[in-house]
Amino acid sequence: MSVLKIVKYPNPILKKKLKLVVNFGLQLKSTIRDMFESMYTYNGIGLAANQVGIDLAVVIVDISKVEKQTIPLALINPVITMYSDEKELKEEGCLSFPGYYDRVNRSKYLEVSYYDINGKPHKLQAEGLLARVLQHEIDHINGINFIQRMTLKKQAKFYILYKLGKCKF
Ligand code: CO
Repeated sequence: MSVLKIVKYPNPILKKKLKLVVNFGLQLKSTIRDMFESMYTYNGIGLAANQVGIDLAVVIVDISKVEKQTIPLALINPVITMYSDEKELKEEGCLSFPGYYDRVNRSKYLEVSYYDINGKPHKLQAEGLLARVLQHEIDHINGINFIQRMTLKKQAKFYILYKLGKCKF
């Protein structure tokens, strides 16, 4: 197992739509183990493969330090199949933007289709924090970061601070 380096903004791989996984073999299992080890090392609650430089549609989530009854999840080729109209505005951060936090409006409930590590298809319904983390991470594998989900005013604030060198990653 190895701890992988976190890719930070503005690395172009964060803008990439990642490749679908077609081989559910040992290599994939080893990648996912490394992703978990990396996420725990950096104290994240979610991680997408491009954040550790890997071009594969894989996300992992573990919110058990906040919601104890939940278990770690690895989602391969995930697709959000339903978003609730009901939304929630809450603060988010991202390991690729260390130290930067702002509020993002996200659907409160959703449904995701994905494959597990063995290539078996699943459907998952989620709400609250899990729904938020899934939206954030699945955005990553489609090349979208959380800044792009903020209001135009908040986006402008981020780009100005970044250009002025007030946030460095
Ligand atoms: Co992120």
